[in-house]
Amino acid sequence: MTIYEIISKKRDGFELNPDEIREMVLKFSTDGLPDYQMAAWLMAVYFRGMTSAETAVLTETMLHSGDLIDLTDIPGIKVDKHSTGGVGDKTSIILAPIVAAAGVPVPMISGRGLGHTGGTLDKLESIPGFRVNYTIPEFRQKIAKIGVCLIGQTPEIVPADRRMYALRDVTATIQSIPLITGSIMSKKLAEGIDALILDVKTGRGAFMPTYERSVELAKNLIGVGERFGKRTAAYITDMDQPLGNAVGNWLEILECMDCLRKDRDDDLMTLTHQLAGAMIYFSGKASSVEDGIRRSKELIANGAAWNKFIEIVREQNGDASFIENPQKYPKPTFSFQIRAGQDGFISGIDALEVGLVSVSLGAGRMKSDDVIDPKAGILLHKKRGDRVSAGEPLMTIYTDNHAVTESAAQRLLKAVTISAEPVQLAPLIRTFLDKHNC
Ligand code: URA
Repeated sequence: MTIYEIISKKRDGFELNPDEIREMVLKFSTDGLPDYQMAAWLMAVYFRGMTSAETAVLTETMLHSGDLIDLTDIPGIKVDKHSTGGVGDKTSIILAPIVAAAGVPVPMISGRGLGHTGGTLDKLESIPGFRVNYTIPEFRQKIAKIGVCLIGQTPEIVPADRRMYALRDVTATIQSIPLITGSIMSKKLAEGIDALILDVKTGRGAFMPTYERSVELAKNLIGVGERFGKRTAAYITDMDQPLGNAVGNWLEILECMDCLRKDRDDDLMTLTHQLAGAMIYFSGKASSVEDGIRRSKELIANGAAWNKFIEIVREQNGDASFIENPQKYPKPTFSFQIRAGQDGFISGIDALEVGLVSVSLGAGRMKSDDVIDPKAGILLHKKRGDRVSAGEPLMTIYTDNHAVTESAAQRLLKAVTISAEPVQLAPLIRTFLDKHNC
């Protein structure tokens, strides 16, 4: 079949055979296919979708467009976690040391923030000196040495995704479940994992617009993971309000440090323990998820997770003196508080708006080459369900850019809704899905 025929076959809603999918992806990733033909094909996939067999071939082809990391010589069941991203979602930075302290190898390849969502790599890089750009042999060596390493995408891993994602980004084809599945799972499968826990967000600040689409995405991701022999499960979790209290890179590292030092009974730690517990269970080091959660809490209480965090910072070239003495960190030029206009109960904090405002303060990027200010961000003093009195602080904003503070304050005030009556809290963890129920 010619490229023209493959595009029209998908456009007309027919299932492509493996050779046709391989032809498109491999030709495109080796400069053998012009952008306009790939763009047309991506749009046809966007509208027509893919069967699970097609999605598996897409993922496999993308996976083999680059190198695969082989961790078989490192003992233990290697487990990673992937989140579809959100506002204030810093669970990876807390759970990676917890799970590694439980003796589970954690190979973690993370992403950067774009748009309203933050990225693990930007948060880690707010620690002076912290490096995320190691080669694959260095990544393997660090996992063998301390049980965990957090890096960014390397040029050798799934190069097809880099090119396809860039084209999807400018052709309005990001929001296609088979294309997202191929993109996420090819990168996760290349890491050398044995098992994967997914945190698929739903709500205002989530990547997927509705609960139903989040479930559909989770089912597709699990289907592909299991097809490749990796134990895969997903939690569908709330992203209507930001997770935890900090939004912004260094502020989030400070919050992670707080959680690792003394644990907390809040949304952030409830979710972190759930995901860490599932990872520890999947590794065979706990008898159930609940037993894994118990172990996760124990590793915080006995200081092992904190010590592992310091070990990670040192191993990845971070300056641990900023961890031991955060007062040393440069301060933002401006900080001020946003206060409640009335008494009542917080009924909503719009995660999308908080994320976008944090970007305007300097904490994120709208274009991939925007420069981040690690000090910028927002601290939430109240969360959904909390009682509040008129005049009480709702949030503090931090920035070096005075020009945006006025509009940021106005937008944040509008992002918070206060009701006169106590509010019923929606569950943080909505659904658990694995191969048995999807
Ligand atoms: N994250 C990815 O890595 N790929 C997508 O396509 C969407 C989100």
